Amino acid sequence: MIKKEKEQPPEPDRQGNKAPNRLFHTRLCELLGIEYPIIQGALGGGISGPELVAAVSNAGGLGVLAAWGLSMDQLRRAIERTRELTARPFALNIMPVNLPFTQSRTELAIKEKIGIVTTGRGDPKAPIVQRLKSEGVKVLGVVPTVRHAKRLEQEGVDALVASGCEAGGHVGKVATMPLVPQVVDAVNIPVVAAGGIMDARGFLAALALGACGVQLGTRFVASEESLTSLEEKKRILEATDEDTVVTEIFTGKPVRVLTSPRLVSLIKAMRDGLSPEETRQRIQELRKGKRAGQPGYNSVTSGQGSGLIHNILPAAEIIREIISGAEALYKHLNPRL
Ligand SMILES: Cc1cc2nc3c(=O)[nH]c(=O)nc-3n(C[C@H](O)[C@H](O)[C@H](O)COP(=O)(O)O)c2cc1C
Repeated sequence: MIKKEKEQPPEPDRQGNKAPNRLFHTRLCELLGIEYPIIQGALGGGISGPELVAAVSNAGGLGVLAAWGLSMDQLRRAIERTRELTARPFALNIMPVNLPFTQSRTELAIKEKIGIVTTGRGDPKAPIVQRLKSEGVKVLGVVPTVRHAKRLEQEGVDALVASGCEAGGHVGKVATMPLVPQVVDAVNIPVVAAGGIMDARGFLAALALGACGVQLGTRFVASEESLTSLEEKKRILEATDEDTVVTEIFTGKPVRVLTSPRLVSLIKAMRDGLSPEETRQRIQELRKGKRAGQPGYNSVTSGQGSGLIHNILPAAEIIREIISGAEALYKHLNPRL
């Protein structure tokens, strides 16, 4: 007679994710002192303001204030306001735009006793990472390739956010599905997946790839608390999977945005050999129109997963839906649980 072996609880995996009784309480939760391994990616230009950041942190995730687009004074006030709204951990994102920006925001983070800093696209460089670490700040670096992941691990960051090219905002060339497991295999620190994750399915898929958490940007742009206009949020709701494009027009680096008729026509004209002078003029016109919120000029920074977003929800509800949806889906995939 073949005796059926008693089923053993699953071992923690390579990323340290724990067994099903605390299904989604991963190594990232331990590192950051949060309940659910969900990070609200920084949304520059003031979009992830104190209300959104605090709502995410209060709901058990990690809210992230973005330094980019705010003056030092505005940032100081945003930190103060966030502290009035939550006693839970939140982070400051410092995109390494240039050295003076990075250094000044790093010193501000230290002075304000920020416990967690995330960096954006680009290498923050070892001295910045070491300065933050020497003050006990935990550092999470965003990376678009395995090469960058290894470098930032050597620089001493505590965790990595592997961000695929489906993401809204600055992007690399590798997609989330191949990027995340390759980064997981290449480093020994926790890896968070970003790019194209909008719901419970994406969350669970990211954990299956070996990530110990997720970072969502576009989904939180379309939250009640985000400080972008209602018109921009509605454009995300209307978008399909084909409605984003990567362009260097806005920042000089590849950024994924929702298309607009004027943007599409400019990209086409540039491909057809528009002169540098005319290109400059039309880019200026586009930026001006975008700033003024003129219809047809509006190119909302948004990811390929926009087509998965059908409602504007409070941030806490977004987190609740992801966690309860992922639990149900996990049980469906593992019927004995
Ligand atoms: C409107 C918008 C603004 C963003 N601003 C920043 C930023 O200031 N710093 C940063 O590191 N990442 C920024 N990102 C990237 C997000 O933090 C996040 O990593 C990315 O959106 C994840 O991909 P997803 O949009 O597919 O969820 C931005 C993304 C969006 C959509």
